[in-house]
Amino acid sequence: MLALTTTNIAWLLLLVISTGFIVYAVLNIRQSRAELGSEIELAPNRKEYYDDETLEGSRLERVQLLGVLLLVVVVIGLPVYWVLEPGRQAGAVEAKEEIFTEWGRRLFAPTAEGGFNCAGCHGGYAGGGGEAAWNITDAKTGEVEAVNWKAPALDTIFYRFDEDEVRFILVYGRPFSPMSPWGLEGGGPMNDQQIDTLITYLWSIQVEREDCGVGEDDARSCPSGHLPSDMQDDIETRARQLVADGTYTSYGEALFNLDLGSGAYSCARCHTPGWSWGDPGVTGQGGFGWNLTGGKANTVFPNEDDMIDFIRNGSVYGAKYGVQGQGSGRMPGFGAMLTDEQLTAVVEYVRGL
Ligand code: HEC
Ligand code: HEC
Repeated sequence: MLALTTTNIAWLLLLVISTGFIVYAVLNIRQSRAELGSEIELAPNRKEYYDDETLEGSRLERVQLLGVLLLVVVVIGLPVYWVLEPGRQAGAVEAKEEIFTEWGRRLFAPTAEGGFNCAGCHGGYAGGGGEAAWNITDAKTGEVEAVNWKAPALDTIFYRFDEDEVRFILVYGRPFSPMSPWGLEGGGPMNDQQIDTLITYLWSIQVEREDCGVGEDDARSCPSGHLPSDMQDDIETRARQLVADGTYTSYGEALFNLDLGSGAYSCARCHTPGWSWGDPGVTGQGGFGWNLTGGKANTVFPNEDDMIDFIRNGSVYGAKYGVQGQGSGRMPGFGAMLTDEQLTAVVEYVRGL
């Protein structure tokens, strides 16, 4: 908006100045015709000028006054400009971000509204998690079955992954799932700019974090913040309830299978085969995420605290983890979503698988 107004003013100024020049030129040409042949009397340097009285008196004062006025403009104008400039720049950045968010929103829109249908699978514009129709082929019988595959919430995506990891998911998709590649490198339709624009939109729909540290002024990204406490309390209540009604045997097991918000499913969707389409196989036996049964994960993390740290931070692309683990950046971090007590409970459950 600001940029637009400035542009309008600049155009207006340009118009006024150009018109002024044209008027001046026309008048000048007409006057010079009348002067033809009389240069001797009318040449500017032959004209009679002010007498000494005026020249050193009122004329001098006028010129001095003009000088003082210009000085005042410089002395007041420059500091005012200096004071306002950072605000103007911040405003310009904000305006650009708003524009990108709006463009990203159009890419995110359902097919019917001209977008790439992220909203169609991921729970509308708010990205609160949804479902995608998909066909599963049974490996043994070859039978094809129509299922609904849970599409995770995106309004907490930056709680679990950093920007590069999200970019990777968007560009290459999730193999063997309804999440197709969207970037050109992955064989999808979007160029780098569109992927970036989409990421700006994803930032704009993040659930604002609580307890941001000093100097961390963006509640959508602050590193020390965590899920709002009402959402955290809700996770606790629902997990305890599922233990109380006998659905799960431990708090950790409930957390392993829980929806940590509106569609922010936790571990089982990646580590239990079939969980995402409502036909779970053996818990923790691996899918997109690795097989956690049979004590293999305990060999990787002989020390429980190291495993807790790993679940808290997630894996990092190219970085070693545990004893012989090689991170790909695809294991999310849960430190901003689960409390330390919950991380411990879920890890104790995983260690017993
Ligand atoms: C056909 C339905 C469908 C469409 C369209 C779709 N997705 Fe997905 N998306 C999914 C499913 C299903 C998953 C989960 C895959 C899995 O289980 O690993 C997913 C996963 C993701 C993830 C990883 C989430 C996580 O927590 O692991 C992100 C990020 C994502 N999608 C963003 C997008 C964006 C942005 C768009 C639009 C360009 C989009 N998706 C379009 C179905 C879809
Ligand atoms: C988006 C999918 C996804 C989710 C959700 C997920 N994981 Fe993982 N997990 C992975 C992947 C992929 C790996 C393999 C490491 C890598 O590729 O970086 C992994 C690795 C691990 C490992 C190390 C196993 C080994 O043998 O190296 C543990 C332990 C683990 N996950 C536990 C969990 C727990 C506990 C949760 C829930 C709080 C969870 N995971 C949620 C995808 C996921």
